[in-house]
Amino acid sequence: MASPSRVPKEVPGSYGFPYVSAIRDRLDFYYNQGQDKYFESRVEKYGSTVVRINVPPGPFMAHDPRVVAVLDAKSFPVLFDVTKVEKKDLFTGTYMPSTSLTGGYRVCSYLDPSEPTHAKVKQMLFSLLASRKDAFIPAFRTHFSSLLATVESQLVLSGKSDFNALNDATSFEFIGDAYFGVLPSASELGTTGPTKAAKWLIWQLHPLVTLGLPKILEEPLLHSFHLPPFLVSGDYKALHKYFSAAATKALDTAETLGLNREEACHNLLFATVFNSYGGLKVLLPGILSRIAGAGEKFHQRLATEIRAAVEDAGGKVTMAALEKMELTKSAVWEALRLDPPVKFQYGRAKTDLEIESHDAVFAVKKGEMLFGYQPCATKDPRVFGATAAEFVGDRFVGEEGSKLLQYVYWSNGRETESPSVGNKQCPGKNLVVLVGRLLVVELFLRYDTFTAGVGTDLLGTKVEFSAVTKATSGPEA
Ligand code: HEM
Repeated sequence: MASPSRVPKEVPGSYGFPYVSAIRDRLDFYYNQGQDKYFESRVEKYGSTVVRINVPPGPFMAHDPRVVAVLDAKSFPVLFDVTKVEKKDLFTGTYMPSTSLTGGYRVCSYLDPSEPTHAKVKQMLFSLLASRKDAFIPAFRTHFSSLLATVESQLVLSGKSDFNALNDATSFEFIGDAYFGVLPSASELGTTGPTKAAKWLIWQLHPLVTLGLPKILEEPLLHSFHLPPFLVSGDYKALHKYFSAAATKALDTAETLGLNREEACHNLLFATVFNSYGGLKVLLPGILSRIAGAGEKFHQRLATEIRAAVEDAGGKVTMAALEKMELTKSAVWEALRLDPPVKFQYGRAKTDLEIESHDAVFAVKKGEMLFGYQPCATKDPRVFGATAAEFVGDRFVGEEGSKLLQYVYWSNGRETESPSVGNKQCPGKNLVVLVGRLLVVELFLRYDTFTAGVGTDLLGTKVEFSAVTKATSGPEA
């Protein structure tokens, strides 16, 4: 028989009145409290890290805003277990953007692993990434060394340099180059790719963001109704044209996997522009801001480690050299822990379930929507201690440190686990961590230290360089 503490409890919390409470909660989420406070205050109110709450956007886009929120490191991983949760049509949560934004197809991110197309598309992406693995480091170095040269000239001209703006243009070029060997800027897209991509992203994510406009404008425009897809169809067509011409090899592979070429092309576009480009738009400013905030002494430690490993590798940035950079690796994981670029995860209970938090076991019914706000789980003080909310750059160094990696969840799975065709973990996991490390490496091969101002942006962090100190030793001094 179960011990008393193991007897499943009712999940505490309240959804309030239909419509009215969901709208009130949405206003709390966006304007009155902000995201972190919205969740933390409800955990406090009900004395539980598993609570019933409404999530945005609510009326009139989501037909049901009610979820069971899992807000600690112990309960959160239920969302990774595809034997327990169904992941169909809930990539963006309680609403789903129109499939006319994705060529009429439900793309991989919206598919449950039980749907046969899921494995085929995910396999296509694994094959693409494997076939291009030797292109990532040189492409990154080319595009981001040129970005840093621009930062330096902007600093000379105006004393500041907006990293996000440069990153938006550079990441788009880098991904096209790395995945397909075709620069978007050399295609018919010219330099319009990043703007077209950003507009298309907004059409899918507007229910979840605020642009900082008065709420009287934002509520009806962004949070209550879908923006009409036809207003972005020209931009999407132009992006699609690039993919059907640049990705012929990947599309040939897709056909051998049994995928329809058109469906594969829309999926490649989504994985490249939404998952990869959308991810890098948030990831790289996030990492940069944390490294900036860690200060000069930490910069010195990074520079020493990075330069020694690169020198050992004959002055080259190689995979083997990157593997040796324990502090650099740790700092990137720490940034991903504190600022996971994708903060919300969802899953629908496949059966009646028991969910365990640190303190209790809760009963959830089949069909209920589970939701995780990742920063609450990855900043759990019961796992990361008194410094849980702080950037500790060497947190994951050494044997003890690496034991904590299982609690890093940014990829929709534990950092110690791997994506597969049977799960929903991000297939870009290794690439994302690689790119994060490459940014830090590029910075400290070039600079001894730097300073930057940090603010907030539409989807994450905004970073503006204010000074860089050129390297006085090492391969690039
Ligand atoms: C899935 C995060 C980059 C392709 C996911 C999920 C997360 C995530 C959290 C799971 C979403 C869910 O089901 O709830 C990120 C972040 C990235 C990034 C933060 C960058 C910073 C990439 C890249 C690719 C990619 C580079 C390129 C292949 C995908 C795909 C899925 C996915 C296709 C759906 C997986 C499936 O259906 O099994 N990603 N990702 N992502 N990601 Fe990534």
